[in-house]
Amino acid sequence: MSYWFFLNFILLILAIYKVVTHFSFPELHVHIILGFIGFMFFLFNWTRNAVFSTIRNIPDRRKKIMLATMSKKVMPFHRWTGMLALLFIFMHAWVIIYRYGFSVQNEKMLSGLLAMITLMLLVATGWMRLIKPTGRLRRLHLRLGMLLFLLLVLHIIL
Ligand code: HEM
Ligand code: HEM
Repeated sequence: MSYWFFLNFILLILAIYKVVTHFSFPELHVHIILGFIGFMFFLFNWTRNAVFSTIRNIPDRRKKIMLATMSKKVMPFHRWTGMLALLFIFMHAWVIIYRYGFSVQNEKMLSGLLAMITLMLLVATGWMRLIKPTGRLRRLHLRLGMLLFLLLVLHIIL
């Protein structure tokens, strides 16, 4: 199994911890719910990376085929879950800016803005990759996913 499963799991626990310890819990402000839903859609798509690296690393051929078949079944949803992540994050940012305004001095907002820009590029390279697949786009799509993962670690911890 890929260590990415473990890293994704840690980030999920961290996000859940932040949500349940938010001062508005259990009613929860709508921007927190929107951010968490967007995050879950991202994590669903990002798990594809963990599955792909497991396929590359395990020696058992039967397991490889099983994982590849499962991954293929999920693929038609991938583009739409990616679009939903973007939609929920737009709403998350919109409600936050409406409520609190925007300041780059605020680390949470700055890391969030960088994460949102990365997500927009990730979705754009996803569609470009679907229309015209090239090796360069594949690497770019994957690296943007990794960058977004790192930015979200910051965004959630800060
Ligand atoms: C991919 C983009 C983003 C994701 C996945 C995301 C996710 C989240 C999640 C899950 C939370 C709740 C947990 C926590 O407090 O850490 C949160 C909180 C927050 N986010 Fe984001 N976010 C994103 C983009 C943004 C953007 C663009 C902004 C700035 C406009 C922003 C500003 C904030 C702020 C200020 C909070 C704390 C709100 C509070 O404590 O009341 N986020 N975000
Ligand atoms: C939250 C947003 C997204 C994330 C985290 C994400 C992540 C990933 C990952 C990890 C892979 C496998 C990487 C590899 O090739 O090794 C992948 C593949 C792919 N993604 Fe995305 N993606 C997102 C959004 C999108 C969107 C909106 C599209 C639009 C069509 C898209 C199109 C594709 C395509 C065509 C593949 C290749 C599938 C295959 O070869 O089976 N992605 N994505």
